[in-house]
Amino acid sequence: MSATMNEAWTKIETEAARLRSARLLDLFANDPTRAETMTSDAPHLIADFSKQRLDGAALGAFAALARAADFDGWRAKLFGGDVVNTTEGRAAKHWALRVTDPPGGDNEITAALDRMHAFAHEIAESGDYDAVIHLGIGGSDLGPRMALDALKGYRRPNITVRFAANVDGADVADAIEGLDPKRTLLIVVSKTFTTQETLANAEFVRAWGPARIAAATAAPGKAIAWGVAENDVFPFWDWVGGRYSLWSSVSLVCEIALAHGVFFRMLEGAEEMDLHFRDTPFEKNLPALSAAVQMWNREALGHGSYALIPYAERLRLLPAWAQQLEMESNGKGVTRDGAPLPRSSCAITWGAAGTNAQHSFFQLLHQGVEEIPVEFIVNAGAQEGPPSHRAKVYANALAQAQALMAGKSAAQAKAEMLAKGMSEADATRLAPHRAFTGNRASTLMALDALTPEALGALLAFYEHRVFVEAVLAGINPFDQWGVELGKEMANALLPALEGGNPPPDLDPSTAAWVRRLRAP
Ligand code: F6P
Repeated sequence: MSATMNEAWTKIETEAARLRSARLLDLFANDPTRAETMTSDAPHLIADFSKQRLDGAALGAFAALARAADFDGWRAKLFGGDVVNTTEGRAAKHWALRVTDPPGGDNEITAALDRMHAFAHEIAESGDYDAVIHLGIGGSDLGPRMALDALKGYRRPNITVRFAANVDGADVADAIEGLDPKRTLLIVVSKTFTTQETLANAEFVRAWGPARIAAATAAPGKAIAWGVAENDVFPFWDWVGGRYSLWSSVSLVCEIALAHGVFFRMLEGAEEMDLHFRDTPFEKNLPALSAAVQMWNREALGHGSYALIPYAERLRLLPAWAQQLEMESNGKGVTRDGAPLPRSSCAITWGAAGTNAQHSFFQLLHQGVEEIPVEFIVNAGAQEGPPSHRAKVYANALAQAQALMAGKSAAQAKAEMLAKGMSEADATRLAPHRAFTGNRASTLMALDALTPEALGALLAFYEHRVFVEAVLAGINPFDQWGVELGKEMANALLPALEGGNPPPDLDPSTAAWVRRLRAP
Protein backbone atom coordinates (compact mmCIF):
# COMPACT_ATOMS: atom_id res chain seq x y z
CA MET A 1 0.00 0.00 0.00
CA SER A 2 1.58 3.28 -1.14
CA ALA A 3 2.10 6.30 1.11
CA THR A 4 -0.50 8.28 -0.87
CA MET A 5 -3.04 5.49 -0.40
CA ASN A 6 -2.32 5.51 3.33
CA GLU A 7 -2.82 9.28 3.38
CA ALA A 8 -6.14 8.87 1.56
CA TRP A 9 -7.24 6.29 4.15
CA THR A 10 -6.34 8.71 6.93
CA LYS A 11 -8.66 11.23 5.32
CA ILE A 12 -11.42 8.61 4.98
CA GLU A 13 -11.01 7.75 8.66
CA THR A 14 -11.30 11.43 9.58
CA GLU A 15 -14.53 11.64 7.63
CA ALA A 16 -15.74 8.47 9.32
CA ALA A 17 -15.03 9.94 12.76
CA ARG A 18 -17.19 12.94 11.78
CA LEU A 19 -20.05 10.86 10.37
CA ARG A 20 -20.00 7.61 12.37
CA SER A 21 -22.64 8.74 14.85
CA ALA A 22 -24.49 11.07 12.52
CA ARG A 23 -28.25 10.62 12.33
CA LEU A 24 -29.38 10.02 8.78
CA LEU A 25 -32.45 12.16 9.33
CA ASP A 26 -30.18 15.02 10.48
CA LEU A 27 -28.14 14.73 7.30
CA PHE A 28 -31.37 15.33 5.36
CA ALA A 29 -32.38 18.18 7.68
CA ASN A 30 -28.99 19.86 7.19
CA ASP A 31 -29.03 19.48 3.44
CA PRO A 32 -32.43 19.77 1.78
CA THR A 33 -30.91 18.86 -1.62
CA ARG A 34 -29.46 15.60 -0.32
CA ALA A 35 -32.07 13.28 -1.90
CA GLU A 36 -31.12 14.68 -5.30
CA THR A 37 -27.41 15.28 -4.91
CA MET A 38 -26.78 11.81 -3.51
CA THR A 39 -28.62 10.13 -6.39
CA SER A 40 -26.64 9.17 -9.50
CA ASP A 41 -27.51 7.45 -12.69
CA ALA A 42 -26.09 5.35 -15.49
CA PRO A 43 -27.76 3.60 -18.42
CA HIS A 44 -30.93 1.81 -17.23
CA LEU A 45 -30.07 2.24 -13.56
CA ILE A 46 -30.30 4.91 -10.87
CA ALA A 47 -28.93 4.64 -7.36
CA ASP A 48 -29.98 6.73 -4.40
CA PHE A 49 -27.19 6.81 -1.79
CA SER A 50 -28.86 9.52 0.31
CA LYS A 51 -29.80 7.05 3.07
CA GLN A 52 -26.14 6.08 3.46
CA ARG A 53 -24.22 7.69 6.31
CA LEU A 54 -21.87 9.64 4.07
CA ASP A 55 -21.80 12.89 2.17
CA GLY A 56 -19.95 14.68 -0.61
CA ALA A 57 -16.83 15.20 1.52
CA ALA A 58 -16.62 11.51 2.39
CA LEU A 59 -17.10 10.55 -1.26
CA GLY A 60 -14.40 13.11 -2.08
CA ALA A 61 -12.03 11.21 0.19
CA PHE A 62 -12.66 8.09 -1.89
CA ALA A 63 -11.98 10.06 -5.07
CA ALA A 64 -8.60 10.91 -3.52
CA LEU A 65 -8.07 7.22 -2.73
CA ALA A 66 -8.92 6.42 -6.35
CA ARG A 67 -6.25 8.86 -7.53
CA ALA A 68 -3.73 7.38 -5.12
CA ALA A 69 -4.60 3.85 -6.27
CA ASP A 70 -4.31 4.89 -9.94
CA PHE A 71 -7.91 4.02 -10.68
CA ASP A 72 -7.73 5.73 -14.09
CA GLY A 73 -4.61 3.75 -14.98
CA TRP A 74 -6.06 0.38 -13.93
CA ARG A 75 -9.32 1.08 -15.73
CA ALA A 76 -7.33 1.91 -18.88
CA LYS A 77 -5.42 -1.35 -18.45
CA LEU A 78 -8.67 -3.31 -18.10
CA PHE A 79 -10.13 -1.82 -21.27
CA GLY A 80 -6.78 -1.92 -23.05
CA GLY A 81 -6.65 -5.70 -22.69
CA ASP A 82 -3.49 -5.54 -20.56
CA VAL A 83 -2.62 -8.28 -18.10
CA VAL A 84 -4.61 -7.26 -15.01
CA ASN A 85 -4.83 -10.78 -13.61
CA THR A 86 -1.20 -10.81 -12.62
CA THR A 87 -1.06 -14.17 -10.82
CA GLU A 88 -2.37 -15.98 -13.89
CA GLY A 89 -0.78 -13.68 -16.47
CA ARG A 90 -4.11 -12.90 -18.14
CA ALA A 91 -6.15 -9.98 -19.36
CA ALA A 92 -9.76 -9.70 -18.14
CA LYS A 93 -11.68 -8.89 -21.29
CA HIS A 94 -15.25 -9.93 -20.45
CA TRP A 95 -16.23 -6.42 -21.61
CA ALA A 96 -14.93 -7.32 -25.11
CA LEU A 97 -17.68 -9.95 -25.40
CA ARG A 98 -20.21 -7.13 -25.42
CA VAL A 99 -18.62 -4.83 -27.96
CA THR A 100 -21.58 -5.31 -30.26
CA ASP A 101 -20.21 -3.41 -33.24
CA PRO A 102 -16.45 -4.00 -33.15
CA PRO A 103 -14.27 -1.50 -34.98
CA GLY A 104 -12.95 -3.14 -38.11
CA GLY A 105 -15.92 -5.50 -38.33
CA ASP A 106 -15.97 -9.19 -37.52
CA ASN A 107 -13.47 -10.82 -35.21
CA GLU A 108 -13.21 -14.11 -33.34
CA ILE A 109 -15.74 -12.90 -30.78
CA THR A 110 -18.45 -12.01 -33.28
CA ALA A 111 -17.69 -15.20 -35.21
CA ALA A 112 -18.22 -17.23 -32.02
CA LEU A 113 -21.44 -15.35 -31.28
CA ASP A 114 -22.68 -16.00 -34.82
CA ARG A 115 -21.96 -19.73 -34.47
CA MET A 116 -23.75 -19.85 -31.14
CA HIS A 117 -26.67 -18.01 -32.63
CA ALA A 118 -26.93 -20.35 -35.63
CA PHE A 119 -26.77 -23.42 -33.39
CA ALA A 120 -29.40 -22.01 -31.05
CA HIS A 121 -31.67 -21.29 -33.99
CA GLU A 122 -31.21 -24.80 -35.33
CA ILE A 123 -32.02 -26.40 -31.97
CA ALA A 124 -34.99 -24.17 -31.23
CA GLU A 125 -36.55 -24.30 -34.68
CA SER A 126 -35.88 -27.91 -35.70
CA GLY A 127 -38.75 -29.29 -33.70
CA ASP A 128 -36.46 -32.16 -32.65
CA TYR A 129 -35.94 -30.97 -29.08
CA ASP A 130 -38.25 -30.43 -26.11
CA ALA A 131 -35.59 -29.85 -23.50
CA VAL A 132 -32.08 -28.60 -22.80
CA ILE A 133 -30.05 -29.72 -19.79
CA HIS A 134 -27.30 -27.28 -18.81
CA LEU A 135 -24.58 -28.75 -16.59
CA GLY A 136 -21.99 -26.43 -15.04
CA ILE A 137 -21.15 -24.94 -11.66
CA GLY A 138 -20.17 -21.55 -10.24
CA GLY A 139 -19.64 -19.10 -13.06
CA SER A 140 -20.61 -21.81 -15.51
CA ASP A 141 -24.05 -22.03 -13.90
CA LEU A 142 -25.13 -19.01 -11.86
CA GLY A 143 -25.14 -16.41 -14.66
CA PRO A 144 -27.22 -18.20 -17.30
CA ARG A 145 -29.50 -19.67 -14.61
CA MET A 146 -30.19 -16.19 -13.23
CA ALA A 147 -30.53 -14.51 -16.63
CA LEU A 148 -33.05 -17.07 -17.87
CA ASP A 149 -35.06 -16.73 -14.70
CA ALA A 150 -34.95 -12.93 -14.91
CA LEU A 151 -36.04 -12.87 -18.55
CA LYS A 152 -38.80 -15.46 -18.29
CA GLY A 153 -41.11 -13.11 -20.16
CA TYR A 154 -38.76 -13.26 -23.17
CA ARG A 155 -38.57 -17.07 -23.42
CA ARG A 156 -39.42 -19.11 -26.49
CA PRO A 157 -42.36 -21.39 -25.83
CA ASN A 158 -41.93 -25.17 -25.78
CA ILE A 159 -38.31 -25.53 -24.66
CA THR A 160 -37.90 -26.88 -21.14
CA VAL A 161 -34.60 -25.95 -19.49
CA ARG A 162 -33.07 -27.81 -16.57
CA PHE A 163 -29.88 -26.90 -14.72
CA ALA A 164 -27.79 -29.13 -12.49
CA ALA A 165 -24.64 -28.01 -10.70
CA ASN A 166 -24.30 -29.84 -7.41
CA VAL A 167 -22.36 -33.09 -7.14
CA ASP A 168 -25.07 -34.28 -4.79
CA GLY A 169 -26.71 -36.71 -7.19
CA ALA A 170 -30.17 -35.44 -6.29
CA ASP A 171 -29.55 -32.40 -8.47
CA VAL A 172 -28.80 -34.26 -11.68
CA ALA A 173 -31.51 -36.84 -10.94
CA ASP A 174 -34.01 -33.97 -10.78
CA ALA A 175 -32.61 -32.52 -14.00
CA ILE A 176 -33.49 -35.55 -16.12
CA GLU A 177 -36.74 -36.38 -14.36
CA GLY A 178 -39.64 -36.72 -16.78
CA LEU A 179 -37.59 -35.78 -19.87
CA ASP A 180 -37.26 -37.86 -23.01
CA PRO A 181 -33.54 -38.34 -23.70
CA LYS A 182 -34.24 -38.67 -27.44
CA ARG A 183 -35.60 -35.13 -27.47
CA THR A 184 -33.06 -33.55 -25.12
CA LEU A 185 -29.91 -31.56 -25.80
CA LEU A 186 -27.19 -31.74 -23.16
CA ILE A 187 -24.84 -28.76 -22.81
CA VAL A 188 -21.74 -29.33 -20.70
CA VAL A 189 -20.35 -25.99 -19.55
CA SER A 190 -16.94 -25.78 -17.97
CA LYS A 191 -14.20 -23.28 -18.63
CA THR A 192 -11.50 -25.77 -17.67
CA PHE A 193 -13.39 -28.96 -18.52
CA THR A 194 -11.81 -30.49 -15.42
CA THR A 195 -14.37 -29.62 -12.75
CA GLN A 196 -15.27 -32.72 -10.75
CA GLU A 197 -18.93 -31.86 -10.21
CA THR A 198 -19.65 -30.98 -13.83
CA LEU A 199 -17.86 -34.00 -15.26
CA ALA A 200 -19.60 -36.37 -12.83
CA ASN A 201 -22.98 -34.93 -13.78
CA ALA A 202 -22.09 -34.94 -17.48
CA GLU A 203 -21.06 -38.60 -17.40
CA PHE A 204 -24.33 -39.53 -15.72
CA VAL A 205 -26.45 -37.63 -18.26
CA ARG A 206 -24.40 -38.91 -21.19
CA ALA A 207 -25.12 -42.48 -20.06
CA TRP A 208 -28.85 -41.62 -19.98
CA GLY A 209 -28.54 -41.05 -23.76
CA PRO A 210 -29.36 -37.48 -24.77
CA ALA A 211 -30.00 -36.86 -28.48
CA ARG A 212 -27.08 -34.47 -28.81
CA ILE A 213 -24.28 -33.11 -26.63
CA ALA A 214 -22.74 -29.65 -26.92
CA ALA A 215 -20.07 -28.00 -24.81
CA ALA A 216 -19.05 -24.47 -23.88
CA THR A 217 -15.45 -24.33 -22.73
CA ALA A 218 -12.09 -22.61 -22.92
CA ALA A 219 -10.51 -26.06 -23.28
CA PRO A 220 -12.08 -27.34 -26.52
CA GLY A 221 -9.53 -30.14 -26.88
CA LYS A 222 -10.64 -31.63 -23.56
CA ALA A 223 -14.33 -31.44 -24.55
CA ILE A 224 -13.60 -33.20 -27.84
CA ALA A 225 -11.51 -35.84 -26.06
CA TRP A 226 -14.44 -36.39 -23.69
CA GLY A 227 -16.66 -37.08 -26.69
CA VAL A 228 -18.33 -33.88 -27.85
CA ALA A 229 -18.41 -33.50 -31.64
CA GLU A 230 -16.02 -30.74 -32.72
CA ASN A 231 -18.81 -28.76 -34.42
CA ASP A 232 -20.80 -28.74 -31.20
CA VAL A 233 -18.02 -27.29 -29.06
CA PHE A 234 -18.45 -23.56 -28.43
CA PRO A 235 -15.18 -22.10 -27.23
CA PHE A 236 -14.44 -19.06 -25.17
CA TRP A 237 -11.16 -17.68 -24.03
CA ASP A 238 -8.77 -17.74 -21.08
CA TRP A 239 -9.25 -14.02 -20.66
CA VAL A 240 -12.89 -14.56 -19.64
CA GLY A 241 -12.97 -15.30 -15.92
CA GLY A 242 -15.49 -17.96 -14.89
CA ARG A 243 -17.65 -15.56 -12.87
CA TYR A 244 -17.52 -13.03 -15.72
CA SER A 245 -18.43 -15.58 -18.38
CA LEU A 246 -22.18 -15.29 -18.84
CA TRP A 247 -21.53 -13.05 -21.85
CA SER A 248 -19.82 -15.94 -23.66
CA SER A 249 -20.86 -19.34 -25.01
CA VAL A 250 -21.54 -20.23 -21.36
CA SER A 251 -24.95 -18.71 -22.12
CA LEU A 252 -25.66 -20.97 -25.10
CA VAL A 253 -28.71 -22.18 -23.17
CA CYS A 254 -29.97 -18.57 -23.04
CA GLU A 255 -29.54 -18.19 -26.79
CA ILE A 256 -31.63 -21.33 -27.26
CA ALA A 257 -34.33 -20.65 -24.70
CA LEU A 258 -34.75 -16.90 -25.19
CA ALA A 259 -36.51 -15.43 -28.21
CA HIS A 260 -34.45 -14.30 -31.18
CA GLY A 261 -32.23 -11.30 -30.38
CA VAL A 262 -32.84 -11.19 -26.62
CA PHE A 263 -29.36 -12.34 -25.62
CA PHE A 264 -27.86 -9.74 -27.96
CA ARG A 265 -29.99 -7.05 -26.29
CA MET A 266 -28.45 -8.09 -22.97
CA LEU A 267 -25.00 -7.60 -24.46
CA GLU A 268 -26.05 -4.17 -25.73
CA GLY A 269 -27.23 -3.10 -22.29
CA ALA A 270 -24.01 -4.33 -20.70
CA GLU A 271 -22.04 -2.43 -23.33
CA GLU A 272 -23.91 0.76 -22.42
CA MET A 273 -22.78 0.30 -18.83
CA ASP A 274 -19.22 -0.46 -20.00
CA LEU A 275 -19.07 2.83 -21.86
CA HIS A 276 -20.44 4.71 -18.85
CA PHE A 277 -17.86 3.06 -16.61
CA ARG A 278 -14.99 3.51 -19.06
CA ASP A 279 -15.66 7.16 -19.90
CA THR A 280 -17.06 8.76 -16.74
CA PRO A 281 -14.89 10.36 -14.07
CA PHE A 282 -14.89 8.70 -10.65
CA GLU A 283 -17.10 11.40 -9.09
CA LYS A 284 -20.00 10.65 -11.47
CA ASN A 285 -19.28 7.03 -12.25
CA LEU A 286 -22.03 4.82 -10.83
CA PRO A 287 -20.05 1.61 -10.28
CA ALA A 288 -17.24 3.69 -8.73
CA LEU A 289 -19.54 5.62 -6.39
CA SER A 290 -21.25 2.42 -5.35
CA ALA A 291 -17.84 0.82 -4.69
CA ALA A 292 -16.98 3.78 -2.48
CA VAL A 293 -20.21 3.27 -0.51
CA GLN A 294 -19.45 -0.43 -0.09
CA MET A 295 -15.94 0.30 1.18
CA TRP A 296 -17.17 3.09 3.42
CA ASN A 297 -19.65 0.81 5.14
CA ARG A 298 -17.16 -2.00 5.46
CA GLU A 299 -13.83 -0.36 6.23
CA ALA A 300 -14.77 3.03 7.63
CA LEU A 301 -17.90 2.08 9.58
CA GLY A 302 -17.11 -1.59 10.24
CA HIS A 303 -20.20 -3.28 8.78
CA GLY A 304 -18.80 -6.56 7.48
CA SER A 305 -21.79 -7.70 5.46
CA TYR A 306 -24.55 -6.22 3.39
CA ALA A 307 -27.90 -7.56 2.30
CA LEU A 308 -28.79 -7.45 -1.39
CA ILE A 309 -32.57 -7.39 -1.69
CA PRO A 310 -34.18 -7.22 -5.11
CA TYR A 311 -37.82 -6.24 -4.80
CA ALA A 312 -38.45 -8.09 -8.03
CA GLU A 313 -39.26 -11.80 -8.14
CA ARG A 314 -37.51 -12.13 -11.47
CA LEU A 315 -34.24 -11.05 -9.80
CA ARG A 316 -34.51 -13.61 -7.01
CA LEU A 317 -31.31 -15.36 -8.16
CA LEU A 318 -29.30 -12.12 -8.31
CA PRO A 319 -27.91 -12.46 -4.74
CA ALA A 320 -26.50 -15.93 -5.53
CA TRP A 321 -24.84 -14.64 -8.70
CA ALA A 322 -23.49 -11.54 -6.90
CA GLN A 323 -22.14 -13.69 -4.06
CA GLN A 324 -19.79 -15.51 -6.40
CA LEU A 325 -18.91 -12.37 -8.33
CA GLU A 326 -18.07 -10.33 -5.25
CA MET A 327 -16.68 -12.85 -2.80
CA GLU A 328 -14.76 -15.04 -5.25
CA SER A 329 -13.26 -11.90 -6.80
CA ASN A 330 -12.47 -9.80 -3.76
CA GLY A 331 -12.29 -12.29 -0.90
CA LYS A 332 -8.52 -11.96 -0.72
CA GLY A 333 -5.92 -11.56 2.01
CA VAL A 334 -2.94 -10.11 0.15
CA THR A 335 -2.25 -7.20 -2.17
CA ARG A 336 -1.28 -7.60 -5.82
CA ASP A 337 2.33 -7.78 -4.59
CA GLY A 338 1.59 -10.49 -2.06
CA ALA A 339 1.75 -8.28 1.04
CA PRO A 340 -0.85 -8.89 3.77
CA LEU A 341 -3.81 -6.54 3.41
CA PRO A 342 -4.09 -3.86 6.09
CA ARG A 343 -7.90 -4.01 5.89
CA SER A 344 -10.51 -6.31 4.41
CA SER A 345 -11.21 -6.16 0.70
CA CYS A 346 -14.68 -7.72 0.57
CA ALA A 347 -17.97 -7.63 2.42
CA ILE A 348 -20.11 -10.71 2.88
CA THR A 349 -22.87 -10.59 0.27
CA TRP A 350 -26.15 -12.21 1.16
CA GLY A 351 -29.80 -11.66 0.47
CA ALA A 352 -33.05 -12.81 -1.07
CA ALA A 353 -35.99 -11.33 -2.91
CA GLY A 354 -38.33 -8.95 -1.14
CA THR A 355 -41.03 -9.10 -0.01
CA ASN A 356 -40.31 -12.73 0.98
CA ALA A 357 -37.19 -11.67 2.88
CA GLN A 358 -39.29 -9.34 5.06
CA HIS A 359 -40.99 -12.41 6.49
CA SER A 360 -37.71 -14.18 7.09
CA PHE A 361 -34.59 -12.29 8.16
CA PHE A 362 -35.66 -8.64 8.20
CA GLN A 363 -36.21 -8.93 11.95
CA LEU A 364 -32.41 -8.97 12.29
CA LEU A 365 -32.00 -6.01 9.95
CA HIS A 366 -34.43 -3.92 11.97
CA GLN A 367 -33.71 -4.90 15.56
CA GLY A 368 -30.49 -6.92 15.61
CA VAL A 369 -27.59 -5.40 17.55
CA GLU A 370 -25.37 -4.99 14.49
CA GLU A 371 -26.26 -2.68 11.66
CA ILE A 372 -26.28 -4.43 8.26
CA PRO A 373 -26.52 -2.04 5.32
CA VAL A 374 -29.07 -3.00 2.69
CA GLU A 375 -29.05 -2.59 -1.07
CA PHE A 376 -32.60 -2.54 -2.41
CA ILE A 377 -33.30 -2.92 -6.13
CA VAL A 378 -36.70 -2.23 -7.65
CA ASN A 379 -37.93 -2.71 -11.19
CA ALA A 380 -39.47 0.70 -11.93
CA GLY A 381 -41.17 -0.67 -15.03
CA ALA A 382 -42.82 -3.69 -13.44
CA GLN A 383 -45.59 -4.92 -15.70
CA GLU A 384 -45.94 -8.65 -15.22
CA GLY A 385 -48.78 -10.13 -13.23
CA PRO A 386 -51.81 -8.42 -11.77
CA PRO A 387 -51.56 -4.60 -12.07
CA SER A 388 -52.83 -4.29 -8.50
CA HIS A 389 -49.52 -5.76 -7.21
CA ARG A 390 -47.30 -3.08 -8.68
CA ALA A 391 -47.89 -0.39 -6.07
CA LYS A 392 -47.69 -2.96 -3.29
CA VAL A 393 -44.19 -4.12 -4.16
CA TYR A 394 -42.94 -0.52 -4.35
CA ALA A 395 -44.71 0.44 -1.11
CA ASN A 396 -42.94 -2.41 0.66
CA ALA A 397 -39.50 -1.56 -0.71
CA LEU A 398 -39.79 2.12 0.14
CA ALA A 399 -41.27 1.38 3.57
CA GLN A 400 -38.42 -0.95 4.50
CA ALA A 401 -35.80 1.65 3.63
CA GLN A 402 -37.80 4.27 5.49
CA ALA A 403 -38.26 2.08 8.57
CA LEU A 404 -34.56 1.21 8.68
CA MET A 405 -33.73 4.91 8.65
CA ALA A 406 -36.49 6.41 10.79
CA GLY A 407 -36.94 3.67 13.38
CA LYS A 408 -39.34 4.14 16.28
CA SER A 409 -38.40 5.21 19.80
CA ALA A 410 -39.53 3.28 22.88
CA ALA A 411 -41.53 6.36 23.95
CA GLN A 412 -43.33 6.41 20.61
CA ALA A 413 -43.98 2.66 20.76
CA LYS A 414 -45.36 3.04 24.28
CA ALA A 415 -47.58 5.98 23.32
CA GLU A 416 -49.05 3.98 20.44
CA MET A 417 -49.85 1.05 22.72
CA LEU A 418 -51.45 3.31 25.32
CA ALA A 419 -53.52 4.97 22.57
CA LYS A 420 -54.85 1.51 21.67
CA GLY A 421 -55.97 0.98 25.26
CA MET A 422 -53.13 -1.13 26.64
CA SER A 423 -52.39 -0.85 30.36
CA GLU A 424 -49.47 1.34 31.47
CA ALA A 425 -47.67 -1.69 32.92
CA ASP A 426 -47.94 -3.74 29.73
CA ALA A 427 -47.01 -0.79 27.50
CA THR A 428 -43.90 -0.12 29.61
CA ARG A 429 -42.91 -3.79 29.55
CA LEU A 430 -43.38 -4.15 25.77
CA ALA A 431 -41.97 -0.79 24.64
CA PRO A 432 -38.31 -1.92 24.38
CA HIS A 433 -39.37 -4.95 22.34
CA ARG A 434 -41.42 -2.84 19.96
CA ALA A 435 -38.86 -0.04 19.52
CA PHE A 436 -36.52 0.33 16.54
CA THR A 437 -33.20 2.12 16.82
CA GLY A 438 -33.47 3.22 13.20
CA ASN A 439 -30.59 5.16 11.67
CA ARG A 440 -29.73 2.10 9.56
CA ALA A 441 -28.27 2.70 6.13
CA SER A 442 -29.57 1.55 2.78
CA THR A 443 -29.17 2.24 -0.92
CA LEU A 444 -32.17 2.16 -3.21
CA MET A 445 -31.51 1.34 -6.85
CA ALA A 446 -34.04 1.20 -9.67
CA LEU A 447 -33.91 -0.41 -13.10
CA ASP A 448 -35.93 1.52 -15.66
CA ALA A 449 -37.64 -1.79 -16.51
CA LEU A 450 -36.57 -5.40 -16.39
CA THR A 451 -35.65 -5.54 -20.07
CA PRO A 452 -32.74 -7.56 -21.49
CA GLU A 453 -30.80 -4.29 -21.87
CA ALA A 454 -31.40 -3.26 -18.27
CA LEU A 455 -30.44 -6.70 -16.97
CA GLY A 456 -27.22 -6.53 -18.97
CA ALA A 457 -26.48 -3.07 -17.60
CA LEU A 458 -27.19 -4.16 -14.01
CA LEU A 459 -24.87 -7.16 -14.20
CA ALA A 460 -22.09 -5.11 -15.82
CA PHE A 461 -22.57 -2.53 -13.06
CA TYR A 462 -21.81 -5.18 -10.43
CA GLU A 463 -18.80 -6.46 -12.38
CA HIS A 464 -17.33 -2.98 -12.57
CA ARG A 465 -18.10 -2.22 -8.93
CA VAL A 466 -16.11 -5.30 -7.96
CA PHE A 467 -13.22 -4.08 -10.10
CA VAL A 468 -13.23 -0.61 -8.50
CA GLU A 469 -13.25 -2.09 -5.00
CA ALA A 470 -10.32 -4.29 -5.97
CA VAL A 471 -8.34 -1.36 -7.35
CA LEU A 472 -9.00 0.70 -4.22
CA ALA A 473 -7.95 -2.23 -2.04
CA GLY A 474 -4.89 -2.93 -4.20
CA ILE A 475 -5.82 -6.57 -4.95
CA ASN A 476 -6.23 -8.79 -8.02
CA PRO A 477 -9.96 -9.59 -8.35
CA PHE A 478 -9.52 -11.99 -11.25
CA ASP A 479 -7.91 -15.04 -9.65
CA GLN A 480 -9.46 -17.49 -7.14
CA TRP A 481 -6.68 -19.56 -5.60
CA GLY A 482 -8.74 -19.83 -2.44
CA VAL A 483 -10.97 -22.49 -3.99
CA GLU A 484 -8.10 -24.85 -4.78
CA LEU A 485 -7.10 -26.33 -1.42
CA GLY A 486 -10.52 -27.82 -0.70
CA LYS A 487 -10.69 -29.29 -4.23
CA GLU A 488 -7.28 -30.97 -3.75
CA MET A 489 -8.27 -32.38 -0.39
CA ALA A 490 -11.60 -33.68 -1.76
CA ASN A 491 -9.70 -35.53 -4.48
CA ALA A 492 -7.36 -37.01 -1.87
CA LEU A 493 -10.26 -38.18 0.32
CA LEU A 494 -12.38 -39.59 -2.49
CA PRO A 495 -10.71 -43.04 -2.73
CA ALA A 496 -11.23 -43.62 0.99
CA LEU A 497 -14.88 -42.62 0.78
CA GLU A 498 -15.28 -45.02 -2.13
CA GLY A 499 -13.98 -47.84 0.07
CA GLY A 500 -10.20 -47.62 -0.34
CA ASN A 501 -7.55 -46.73 2.21
CA PRO A 502 -7.64 -43.28 3.84
CA PRO A 503 -4.68 -41.03 3.07
CA PRO A 504 -1.91 -41.26 5.67
CA ASP A 505 -1.63 -38.57 8.36
CA LEU A 506 -5.31 -37.68 8.32
CA ASP A 507 -6.31 -35.49 11.25
CA PRO A 508 -8.42 -37.43 13.79
CA SER A 509 -11.61 -35.49 13.09
CA THR A 510 -11.55 -36.02 9.32
CA ALA A 511 -10.49 -39.67 9.83
CA ALA A 512 -13.51 -40.30 12.08
CA TRP A 513 -15.84 -38.79 9.49
CA VAL A 514 -14.30 -40.85 6.69
CA ARG A 515 -15.03 -44.00 8.75
CA ARG A 516 -18.60 -42.82 9.32
CA LEU A 517 -19.37 -41.92 5.70
CA ARG A 518 -17.33 -44.38 3.65
CA ALA A 519 -18.99 -46.84 1.35
CA PRO A 520 -19.73 -50.12 3.21
O1 F6P B 1 -14.51 -23.38 -7.87
C1 F6P B 1 -14.15 -22.24 -8.51
C2 F6P B 1 -14.37 -22.21 -9.98
O2 F6P B 1 -13.16 -22.34 -10.62
C3 F6P B 1 -15.08 -20.94 -10.39
O3 F6P B 1 -14.23 -19.88 -10.49
C4 F6P B 1 -15.72 -21.35 -11.66
O4 F6P B 1 -16.74 -20.47 -12.03
C5 F6P B 1 -16.22 -22.73 -11.30
O5 F6P B 1 -15.21 -23.25 -10.45
C6 F6P B 1 -16.43 -23.65 -12.46
O6 F6P B 1 -15.27 -23.84 -13.19
P1 F6P B 1 -15.30 -24.44 -14.65
O7 F6P B 1 -16.11 -23.52 -15.51
O8 F6P B 1 -13.89 -24.53 -15.10
O9 F6P B 1 -15.96 -25.79 -14.58
